[in-house]
Amino acid sequence: MTMNTDYFWMPFTANRQFKAQPRLVEKAKGMYYTSSDGRQILDGTAGLWCVNAGHAHPVITEAISKQAATLDFAPPFQMSHPLAFQAAEDLAAIAPDGLNRVFFCNSGSEAVDTALKMVLAYHRLRGDTLRTRLIGRERGYHGVGFGGIAVGGIAGNRKHFGPTLAGVDHLRHPLDIAKNAYSRGLPEYGAALADEFEQRLLALHDPATVAALIVEPVQGSAGVILPPKGYLEKLRAICDKHGIVLIFDEVITGFGRLGSAFAADYFSINPDIICCAKGLTNASVPMGAVIAKQEIYDTFMQAAPADTIEFYHGYTYSAHPLACAAAIASLSVYEEEKLFDRAAKLAPHFEAAAHRLRGLPHVKDIRNLGLICGIELESRPGKPTARAYEVFTKCFWQKNILVRTTGDIIALSPPLIINEEQIDTLFNAIAEVLITVD
Ligand SMILES: Cc1ncc(COP(=O)(O)O)c(C=O)c1O
Repeated sequence: MTMNTDYFWMPFTANRQFKAQPRLVEKAKGMYYTSSDGRQILDGTAGLWCVNAGHAHPVITEAISKQAATLDFAPPFQMSHPLAFQAAEDLAAIAPDGLNRVFFCNSGSEAVDTALKMVLAYHRLRGDTLRTRLIGRERGYHGVGFGGIAVGGIAGNRKHFGPTLAGVDHLRHPLDIAKNAYSRGLPEYGAALADEFEQRLLALHDPATVAALIVEPVQGSAGVILPPKGYLEKLRAICDKHGIVLIFDEVITGFGRLGSAFAADYFSINPDIICCAKGLTNASVPMGAVIAKQEIYDTFMQAAPADTIEFYHGYTYSAHPLACAAAIASLSVYEEEKLFDRAAKLAPHFEAAAHRLRGLPHVKDIRNLGLICGIELESRPGKPTARAYEVFTKCFWQKNILVRTTGDIIALSPPLIINEEQIDTLFNAIAEVLITVD
């Protein structure tokens, strides 16, 4: 097939650089992609933190194809279809206690913007109308909607787009390589940074004006930033003390990445709302969801006059039948194949393999939790991102492995079906590449 690369404007991609030498995959099965030039590429990133059960799982592909032939679409406003309710029930069943009302959307970005709107409306419906401020975190990634970039903290994702939302502030991120380099699992130092939320931000803004705090339990897209021991507990306590809704953005950490259904389970901390997407359908059909505490749902139900719409929000493709079929099938695969437990069991091997890269050229930190790992490299003087990009392309072209880089950090998040030998292959390949890179 001849391919004209002119027309497709690629997302979050250096289009000109990519189009000069496209990296293309054409098939995928289990742990491997097949590239256009016929190579088997070991997937070290579960696509983009999302194909947790491995590619083209037969149970999921069959559910989608059957559904496409049975009910292709149902209008989601004032109408629905049974799989929407089933998917919501199945998702609520694995969510932390008390989080049991599910609003469907189509992506992580939409889940975040939905959650932020939900919280603002919730406070207003309760008569707590002063609570309009939203707090995020530096280096947080919450997708690309206006709400998400407002609470997000990645400068490059914000700077071209004006002032976004008013009334937003940010916590400092907890990455502290000087104190925590090469920590295995959660870093020791930094829980006190959570106190700043109360001592600095709430003191400045008045806690009674703050609607919500949104955090990724583990910051993924900005390069794997782990919460120091005790840090998330403190955030939960401060939110409780001041009546602030705590949102966990679990778009990456949901569906087994840390060895439990959600990071909330891993940390034994229940937020009030969870945003999820990606692994919800094993990435086979786009879908996102907001899982809210029942009290939030009940507030909407009680506040609106009978027989009127309670939440003026939704998408044409909310609870799309294909996505619902894919979600039901994916959740059943996770359960049947005990993939969350599998991730937990593999985590020590993954950690040991990752930390064997310590001491290799350019490596300045290695961080890991569950089946997530970040390998941070020293940047080339005046050329941030160039060194990691070279590692990424060499891994793809020369070693047949797919890694992801952000800044000068290599981020790994393989499908949960990976085995120990494949983990070793992945890290050995990166090690071999690192010694060839200037
Ligand atoms: C924590 C987090 N939130 C939101 C998103 C946005 O998800 P999407 O790309 O599906 O809009 C991502 C994507 O990586 C994410 O990691």
